Amino acid sequence: MNTDVIKKRKSVRTYKEEAIAEDIMDQVRSYLNQDKGLFDVPIDFILLDAEKNHVSSPVILGAHTYVAGKYKKQNNAELSFGYAFEKFILYATSLGLGTVWLAATIDRKSFEQAIDLKADEVMPVVTPLGYAAEKRSVREKLMRKGMKSDSRLPFESLFYKDTFDTPLRDEDENIWHFPLEMVRWAPSATNKQPWRVVVEKDQVHFYEKKTKGYEKDSYGDIQKVDVGIALSHFEIAAKEKGLKGSFVQSDPGIKTAEDTEYMATYVLEV
Ligand SMILES: Cc1cc2nc3c(=O)[nH]c(=O)nc-3n(C[C@H](O)[C@H](O)[C@H](O)COP(=O)(O)O)c2cc1C
Repeated sequence: MNTDVIKKRKSVRTYKEEAIAEDIMDQVRSYLNQDKGLFDVPIDFILLDAEKNHVSSPVILGAHTYVAGKYKKQNNAELSFGYAFEKFILYATSLGLGTVWLAATIDRKSFEQAIDLKADEVMPVVTPLGYAAEKRSVREKLMRKGMKSDSRLPFESLFYKDTFDTPLRDEDENIWHFPLEMVRWAPSATNKQPWRVVVEKDQVHFYEKKTKGYEKDSYGDIQKVDVGIALSHFEIAAKEKGLKGSFVQSDPGIKTAEDTEYMATYVLEV
């Protein structure tokens, strides 16, 4: 996995009617069987056929295949889910397939029935899989405009140095600059970009800035899933830059706003 796919990935809601080539489907199947989550929380993926399994989304045109993901309710499940599902999304992108994270705009009951979701499990999202159509539907164009999907918040509103009092500027020399830029371009629910990051010399702390009303029983704390996505982008980019490290959870006690919660730290191996 490399950062070219991070830069290339965009949500796809309008698909060609064309079936996915069988050798590509084989690669998808074998990836899904070996995919691993984060912090020892396993994530399950289920391939669905839109017609046979009677699943659909009102914002998707032309897709015949979906992938649903689920976890058992437990500590860190959302982070692990975001991390693992985004790695799959990037893998699918590398195979030339279009995807889009869908939490809200799906026929949720049908999907949950199709994957036989149990009471102690959560299915935060599904994605269609297929080849992107040449042109986006009118509805998709309007959605992208409404959510400003082609832009992201500026570097200095998301990332900080040592404390939340010192914004990290885009032009500042910093070994973390590239991995953070790759975090900046991550997808998030309604493009809210809830990740906040405080960098230190050899540690990078990730936080969730919560938007009121975003947590639902049906799909859990979706903004924690967004932070899991950010962790995967960060790790892929750090690795590409030759940085070696791993994620731990050890709250550094940095003063945060009330709506901001500590999630995880990337520790550089020295
Ligand atoms: C956790 C999550 C949930 C999302 N849920 C939906 C959804 O229900 N419907 C939808 O059309 N897009 C959904 N999206 C896609 C976002 O709107 C999209 O990623 C964002 O606008 C940025 O656009 P981009 O992915 O093209 O960069 C979701 C994205 C994430 C990460």
